[in-house]
Order: sequence, then structure tokens, then C-alpha cells
Amino acid sequence: MKRKVITGIMMVSLMMLAGCGQSDNAGTINDTNVTDTEITVDIIGTDDDGQTVDSVDTSNSAETVTESAKEENETDSTAGSSDTLVVYFSRTGEQYNVGVIDKGNTAIVAEMIIEHTGADAFEILPQEDYYPYTYKELTDVAKQELNDNARPAYKGDVPDFSQYSTIFIGAPVWWGDWPMIMYTFFENNRDSLVGKTLIPFSTHAGSGLSGFDNKLSAACPKASIGAGLAIAGTDAQNDQNSVKQSVDEWLKELGF
Ligand SMILES: Cc1cc2nc3c(=O)[nH]c(=O)nc-3n(C[C@H](O)[C@H](O)[C@H](O)COP(=O)(O)O)c2cc1C
Repeated sequence: MKRKVITGIMMVSLMMLAGCGQSDNAGTINDTNVTDTEITVDIIGTDDDGQTVDSVDTSNSAETVTESAKEENETDSTAGSSDTLVVYFSRTGEQYNVGVIDKGNTAIVAEMIIEHTGADAFEILPQEDYYPYTYKELTDVAKQELNDNARPAYKGDVPDFSQYSTIFIGAPVWWGDWPMIMYTFFENNRDSLVGKTLIPFSTHAGSGLSGFDNKLSAACPKASIGAGLAIAGTDAQNDQNSVKQSVDEWLKELGF
């Protein structure tokens, strides 16, 4: 595997946001002190013919990333007879410090929760999937959505909320906040979420839960908010045994 040097505004800007630029979802973020920096990332993947390649050119956008990564973003939701639901949003493609991934960090944690609890699942997938599969381009699109206080549409919806009393809701931290598509979900389902116990979880690169709990409470004021869990995205990809242990302990504390 080669190491590729990428120059530009990368994670340093995100980490600065994590420390000082928490968005209040009003669309302003503080990145005025961001400076260009140089970081190295490991990038692996497969080319169009399915051959393994050890780097992708991140100066190009979606074209450079694998078809398989895209296909993985067309995954499933399940509706059964559980009283617990896991709602999550997660991206494949190039992600921070894990190279090109074909299962998103948050999806990995979501699956652990589903396995432990037997919960049903609803994966939030964009109606029009315009999100780039390269990291830098994705951060740009996400930042624009945050600045615009956008409400990107997603496919389908939970068929029937009435059977669920507890809903785990997970996403990657994007610019110190929930991805804007999650606010679309909260707002579309505001009435259906009244009286539910909502339990947030995040994957991140240093920001932890990043206020997901308070932001969820503000978006769904008539729901109860349970104790959330934050998992480093790199651990979700690379240290799944210890992540599973953390997830299981957290779920036991919550009574599962
Ligand atoms: C657009 C974007 C913004 C991000 N912003 C932050 C951030 O503010 N704080 C942080 O700790 N990590 C940030 N990250 C890193 C992701 O939260 C982390 O890689 C996450 O595990 C990705 O999850 P996923 O594979 O489920 O999409 C950002 C990543 C992206 C793509």
C-alpha cells in the first residue's frame, strides 16, 4: 500500500471545528483560522476492472472511486416486529484516515447495535446521491450544506413508527454537527418521534458525540434522549473487537 500525500485543507480544519466551531445548525461555522496543511493518508481500492490498486487520485472526484463502494451505499433497511429501531446514515468511499472503505464506519456500529438488540433498521440514503466518494470533495459539499442549513432529501421512510419505543440514531460527525440529511429525518418525522426514547450514536475523528444529544433534543423536543455513544471511525474499521465490547457495555447500561 502506498502512502499518498495530499496537500490542502483537510482534517486540521475539522479538528479545529471540533474544538471551537460547533454549529448551532444555524449555518455558521468558524474556520477562519484554518491553514493549509499536508497530511498523509493510506488509500486502497479497486479500479474499474476490479483490479486492486493502491492509490486513487483524490484531485479527481467521484470518478476515481470504486463502483463497489457506491453499490455498498444501496443497502438495506429491515422492518420486523421489534420495538427497537436503528436509524443511521453512513458513507462508503474515501473516509478520514481509513482509506477507501466499502462499509461505512457508522454502518459498522449500527450493525453491532442491531445484532445485540435484534432491532429493525432504517438506513438513510440520499434521494439523489450527489455526495462525492473522495474525502476532500465530500467535506466541501458537507460544509456547503451546513452553511446553507440544507435539508437534503432521503429515500423512503420508516413505514410505521408506532411499534417502536426506542430508536437509536447514528451518523458520522460532519463539521461538528449531524449531517444535514439527519435534520431532514428529524423534521419529517417530528410528530412520529413524540414520546419515543431516542439514543444518539456517532462515529468521528476526534469530536466525540459532538453535541448530538443536545442537538437531537432541540430537533425533537418531545422525545426523551438517552445516553449516547461515540466511537472513533478508525476503531470502527480497524479495531472491531474492542468497539463491539464498548457497544455491548453501553447497551447493557441502557438495559439491553
Ligand atoms: C464531511 C465530513 C466532515 C467531518 N467532520 C468531522 C468533525 O467535525 N469532527 C470529527 O471528529 N470528524 C469529522 N469527520 C470524520 C467522520 O466523522 C468520520 O470519519 C466518520 O467515522 C465517518 O463515518 P462514516 O464512514 O459512517 O460516514 C468528518 C468527515 C467528513 C466526510
